[in-house]
Amino acid sequence: MGRVVVAGSINMDVVATAERHPRVGETVAGHEVLYFPGGKGANQAVAASKLGAPTMLIGRIGVDAFGAQLRTFLAAQGVDVSFVQQTAAAHTGTALITVASADNTIVVIGGANAHLTVDDVSSAPLARGDVAVSQLEIPLATIAAFFTRARATGATTILNPAPAVAFDHALLGLVDILVLNETELGVLAGTELRDSDEDATFIDAARRLRVNKTQIICVTLGRRGALALADDTPLVIPGHAVTAVDTTGAGDCFVGALAARLAEGAAIRDALDYANLAASICVQRMGAAPSMPTAVEVGAVLKTV
Ligand code: ATP
Ligand code: RIB
Repeated sequence: MGRVVVAGSINMDVVATAERHPRVGETVAGHEVLYFPGGKGANQAVAASKLGAPTMLIGRIGVDAFGAQLRTFLAAQGVDVSFVQQTAAAHTGTALITVASADNTIVVIGGANAHLTVDDVSSAPLARGDVAVSQLEIPLATIAAFFTRARATGATTILNPAPAVAFDHALLGLVDILVLNETELGVLAGTELRDSDEDATFIDAARRLRVNKTQIICVTLGRRGALALADDTPLVIPGHAVTAVDTTGAGDCFVGALAARLAEGAAIRDALDYANLAASICVQRMGAAPSMPTAVEVGAVLKTV
């Protein structure tokens, strides 16, 4: 079995729950404030680890209480944190999240995540059969160096280009599997997409975006599930009907589960189905990293579908 190695962000999520989201300039009374471990890198690493993959996270935290709590939490989830370093230059990444009607708005302040350097990833322990995973909450140059190293070792690379920003085409060329939501696909493909668009519209955009025919593009579509373009074949992965309470980290669960399954040697279709099921469990719980399901939980639901 291969390993999952994630280079990515580590945040403390400060979550306010409310009946509805405030409009700009408006104040609404909330229900409670909650602190959850989060950050796209950390969430994806926790998902992969809880689903049974030997997992390492490469990241940066500040010299502060949030950083110490997050390191302890990650280690308790079985994530190898030996490449998580402290930096005195900034505070631990923090996300201010409002959750209302199962939907969220997020303001993320990168802090220490912006200090993850090319050097930090240069000795990442990667080998053929491993899966290297990253997202856009760390510097682009660091991601490029990480994937260049991964490619040199024969590891598979997965990029989740979130939050949505346009980036250099050279980085896209280092990606084996791109997992993104419809907003991110729209930004990268230079077209406006809505979650209500037809499957064919997403597949066309994915076809235009991919750099070659071996690159796999997977578009996550919330409750609709996901679509993928693999070997020129469109794959439809229907969503599972569940009652969502908090979708924060759903995309991260999908990516972490996909990586874990591929590291185990699964075929892409099987890995996508598994990720879709894992993410449907994640949305039924509050919080990002703590809502990631275990392999036993996914296995139990698998027996019923
Ligand atoms: P986030 O940024 O909140 O993590 P995202 O936009 O990156 O989310 P989504 O496309 O919303 O990601 O969701 C990722 C996956 O989670 C979906 O492909 C699906 O498998 C699952 N999912 C999300 N919302 C639901 C839901 N309401 N019901 C069932 N599954 C869901
Ligand atoms: O994808 C969800 C994550 O995005 C949250 O945990 C938050 O930290 C932001 O980075």
